[in-house]
Amino acid sequence: MKLAIIGTGYVGLVTGTCFAEVGHHVICVDNDAAKVKTLQAGGIPIYEPGLEDLVKKNVASGHLKFTASTAEGVEKSDVIFIAVPTPPQPDGSVDLSYIERVARDIAAAMTSYKIVVDKSTVPVKTGEKVAETIKRYCAAKVEFDVVSNPEFLREGFAVGDLMNPDRVVIGVRSQRPVAAMTEIYTPFKAPIIVTDINSAELIKHAANSFLALKISYINAIATICEAAGANVQEVAHGIGLDERIGRRFLNAGIGFGGSCFPKDLSAFIKISEQVGYEFKLLKEVQHINAGQMERFLKKITDTLWVLKDKKIGVLGLAFKQNTDDVRSSPAIDLCQRLLKDGATLRVHDPKAMDKAKALLPNVTYVDDMNAVADGCDALVVATEWDEFKQLDLARAKKGLTHPIMFDGRNLFDPAEMEKLGWIYKSVGR
Ligand code: UDX
Repeated sequence: MKLAIIGTGYVGLVTGTCFAEVGHHVICVDNDAAKVKTLQAGGIPIYEPGLEDLVKKNVASGHLKFTASTAEGVEKSDVIFIAVPTPPQPDGSVDLSYIERVARDIAAAMTSYKIVVDKSTVPVKTGEKVAETIKRYCAAKVEFDVVSNPEFLREGFAVGDLMNPDRVVIGVRSQRPVAAMTEIYTPFKAPIIVTDINSAELIKHAANSFLALKISYINAIATICEAAGANVQEVAHGIGLDERIGRRFLNAGIGFGGSCFPKDLSAFIKISEQVGYEFKLLKEVQHINAGQMERFLKKITDTLWVLKDKKIGVLGLAFKQNTDDVRSSPAIDLCQRLLKDGATLRVHDPKAMDKAKALLPNVTYVDDMNAVADGCDALVVATEWDEFKQLDLARAKKGLTHPIMFDGRNLFDPAEMEKLGWIYKSVGR
């Protein structure tokens, strides 16, 4: 199939590359000419395991091309995917101006039947608006279909998630685009759900909100565990073995972040409000998430008392492991709060240090994770990188003035840490 992807952010770039990998001819469009140049040369602007090799391979085979011209993408493709940002506005609602702009650009370039697919996360009823916009701005009387096809990939696992999706959701107004959409996704061997556009759009917000709810649920359980002398990991294991619940997304910690969950929750609360329903449950999910950080900070100040002039080592800056993304990262938030209280920080992250520099200019970046605690009063774990489990604990302990660790991601075993002589505080244990 001949496909265009408008927007080469996380979703657009990974989607386009995986479509090329299964044999489609893909042209990725981005209005950032410098980015397009980098991509054409085989460089990628984000860290995503496995992506760089796939981009290089498919650029070399001619299946994957990049351009700064939307008109070129539209002209050379049968199906056009919109994968541009849908950022939050101050009131929590979604800024759809990029989507609207792209819809107009596509309309202006259309000269024959096209399928226009929305892949960005958008409020329910956006598909209707996109269809209206294309109709209004399309010069010639060209037929088209609008499809909703939400993306469920996780950063850090994006290639795997795209190549092996749990399901593919296709929202349509008529049967006409179904065959083409099915053909696009057949190589991925996943169940394909065909539904109406509004339901497809809702599936995305409902799924992400449910996952955020699951994390807040276990974080609330963690608070009870701490008060009652239980272990949240044991509880998560015990409830997670019930297949109806499942163990995934039951890791307690300093809360969820990233560019999706916080934004999608706010958006879904707003969308619900607009259709006349106050989604109090999701407001509580946000409340628990914010409280998680407060409780963790309190643990630090309960032990270290005054933070002014204290030196703290921090492991982790990315919003989760396997990514260099620091947008809405709880780890960055934590660092900023510690700095505000007067602490000085030595920080390390396997991939996110470059991107963190703009947000945290006044900290010391340490390349070796084992040296991050040198000369510090305590060590904090803020991101769940697997690498951190290999920390040389004896080396870190020697570097610290006192062997204190605050583990916001429960990476170490409390009994083991105590045996090794650490004062070790984690979450819900
Ligand atoms: C999420 C959804 O998982 C994905 O389906 C959707 O397309 C985009 O949003 P992503 O934001 O990449 O993906 O990350 P995810 O792995 O879901 O983690 C989100 C946040 O939750 C991270 O801050 C992570 O640390 C936190 N988290 C996750 C927990 O605190 N506990 C868990 O058990 C799982």
